[in-house]
Amino acid sequence: MTLDWITPAKRLSALPPYVFARLDELKAIAREQGLDLIDLGMGNPDGSAPQPVIESAIAALQNPNNHGYPPFEGTANFRRAITTWYNRRYNVKLDPDSEALPLLGSKEGLGHLALAYLNPGDVVLVPSPSYPVHFRGPIIAGATVHSMILKPEKDWVIDLSEIPDDVARQAKILFFNYPSNPTGATAPREFFEEIVDFARHYEILLVHDLCYAELAFDGYQPTSLLEIPGAKEIGVEFHTLSKTYNMAGWRVGFVVGNQHIIQGLRTLKTNLDYGIFAALQSAAETALQMPDEFVTQVQDRYRERRDFLIAGLEKLGWKIPKPKATMYLWVPCPPGMTSTDFALSVLQETGVVMTPGNAFGTGGEGYVRISLIAECDRLGEALQRLEAANIRYQPEALLSS
Ligand SMILES: Cc1ncc(COP(=O)(O)O)c(C=O)c1O
Repeated sequence: MTLDWITPAKRLSALPPYVFARLDELKAIAREQGLDLIDLGMGNPDGSAPQPVIESAIAALQNPNNHGYPPFEGTANFRRAITTWYNRRYNVKLDPDSEALPLLGSKEGLGHLALAYLNPGDVVLVPSPSYPVHFRGPIIAGATVHSMILKPEKDWVIDLSEIPDDVARQAKILFFNYPSNPTGATAPREFFEEIVDFARHYEILLVHDLCYAELAFDGYQPTSLLEIPGAKEIGVEFHTLSKTYNMAGWRVGFVVGNQHIIQGLRTLKTNLDYGIFAALQSAAETALQMPDEFVTQVQDRYRERRDFLIAGLEKLGWKIPKPKATMYLWVPCPPGMTSTDFALSVLQETGVVMTPGNAFGTGGEGYVRISLIAECDRLGEALQRLEAANIRYQPEALLSS
């Protein structure tokens, strides 16, 4: 019996294709052909969660109280660990009951926030390129996405003056993310002040995604939205344990900020899920209490990989500015190639997986993103394969031909 009479909801057909899923299919084909893949595609950290976190999870598993449904709003202890961490890190006090909410990873929370606040036809401001759920969540909610196209000449920082006044007046939510996935860009504190003023002026709910709060190098300290005076009146900020603590598979994140905005998300989630397994919330407390030296080691690992890969790519013709944060290099495709063509030809010729920039919206066209998720010896192997396949960045050769 064919099921062609059961069609998915229109909100699904409104979505652009999910490039990561397509990339997965191509990776599977390449593997079948016997290619040894070096997968630098997804932002999926290599290695395991810190040992104290694992031990804490094992101990929490032994407690039968942790095996039932967890409290909808997250355990009181984890919420307290979140606000204590936040205060230690940013010197901002938050109420653990109303201004912090644990999430099944920040992706879940970002998507559900769109569903909790957007009606069909509402206007949302989203940077392009950006982390896909920033625009996919609103599309699923039926909203109209106004893309704020980011440009290299503006260091990939949003230019608020480019947003037409009538669009700003209609906009209900603005999503942004610095340090940025996929560009690795950072934004100065003055930009945060500017965007808070902008959101307050136009009465827009401000959503900041601080996924890469701790992955910063060379003394750079990312700004948190809630450090900015007045931000908590209109904004929330999403955090995750996935990257800093290698806990991507554990699905632990949280949102902090304005209590009324958080309440809408809490209400939606109460109807859809039960939150994070309590044993994992207990282990997540341990993660947030890890000493600063742990974070320094994580930063050193990614910095070393960043420097190694940038130096190697430079020998192949790429001059890439060093990102001050994140686990990504944002690499221009050789002139004349689209991001999909370039990523696919690299995959086929070398087995090295990069993500085409258009996965992050049209503003990502012309670039690929390389994740620093392998040790330097493996990154060295990737560079050798690129060199052997003569994959280079040669704008001059193209100009003179
Ligand atoms: C900017 C950004 N936000 C959110 C996420 C999702 O994180 P989580 O694992 O907490 O869902 C990612 C993952 O790559 C990301 O890059």
